[in-house]
Amino acid sequence: MADLSTSYMELKLRNPLVVASCSLTNSVEGVQRCADAGAGAVVLKSLFEEQIEADTKELERHVWVAGHTEAYDYVRKIGIETNAQDYLNLLEKAKQAVAVPVIASLNCITPGWWTDYAKKIEAAGADAIELNVAVLPSDPRHSGRDIEQLYYRIVGDVKKNVKIPIAVKIGPYFTSMGNVASELSDKGAAALVLFNRFYQVDINIDKLNLVPGYRFSTPEEINFSLRWISLLSGRVKCDLAATTGVHDASGVIKQVLAGAATVQVCSTLYIHGIGHIANMLSNIEAWMKKHHFESVSEFRGRLSQKDSDRPELYERLQYIKALVGIE
Ligand SMILES: Cc1cc2nc3c(=O)[nH]c(=O)nc-3n(C[C@H](O)[C@H](O)[C@H](O)COP(=O)(O)O)c2cc1C
Repeated sequence: MADLSTSYMELKLRNPLVVASCSLTNSVEGVQRCADAGAGAVVLKSLFEEQIEADTKELERHVWVAGHTEAYDYVRKIGIETNAQDYLNLLEKAKQAVAVPVIASLNCITPGWWTDYAKKIEAAGADAIELNVAVLPSDPRHSGRDIEQLYYRIVGDVKKNVKIPIAVKIGPYFTSMGNVASELSDKGAAALVLFNRFYQVDINIDKLNLVPGYRFSTPEEINFSLRWISLLSGRVKCDLAATTGVHDASGVIKQVLAGAATVQVCSTLYIHGIGHIANMLSNIEAWMKKHHFESVSEFRGRLSQKDSDRPELYERLQYIKALVGIE
């Protein structure tokens, strides 16, 4: 039997396949189904700062608090706590229901706000926290450095308040990804989750309105995170988790070869069902057997840039015939 076990943020996982934060992990039954299908760990659906803000504003509409700072603060606190409590209940029940690590997910867009939650999440038994930090840098007054500092402050604030490991899930839109990754690791991230695939916007040209874009990734989308996992592997202190575009066993294997400690899947489970996890795991085992690997650690990072004798291959950006054979 091949040994698929892996270590992620010092948590021991039976295999590197992790169910990403999404609606499949928004209920105890969903979490249980993922664990029963063989997932190595589960990331709960994010608790969203904006959702809590919206729910709290709705609550404020029903209570007259204008001009009363104290009353306003009180109503706000209740709104926040009610929402957080539902999430903590889910976390506690999920922890009781499954033996695999359960990672809570907080969506953060402003610093400070999350520190109390993070403590509560730790107390409720989460094995780790994934910070889903997503700031759309649309305000022309904010420089790249301002935005990066915001990310660092959020991670630093949460890190100060909890002992459980913190993973930081980010999108791909940074000017200096290598520097950002290394700073996040220095600020206390035990892992980086690369890269979130955000909600997309599309336009309906008949109705002349905005509509949601296609929800799911395609296998072709794997290449961006594959490149960055392979570039950063062994170069940042923290672990790396891959997300976006992993749809089958070959996607998981590629990301582990590039250096990922874990590989998160989401779209493929919506498309093929949660049972697809077992299918992917048995295909990974078959590949390991074919290549005479007995454990995942034997091939993790084998194709990272750091261990390559052709490091320049990882950095090619242009279609130049002399370099890549394509123009
Ligand atoms: C319906 C849906 C809901 C999602 N909800 C969250 C979420 O709450 N928090 C989060 O960090 N990512 C969320 N994601 C992003 C996924 O966790 C994942 O990173 C992304 O879909 C890319 O992986 P994939 O190619 O395997 O789908 C969601 C994705 C989908 C499709």
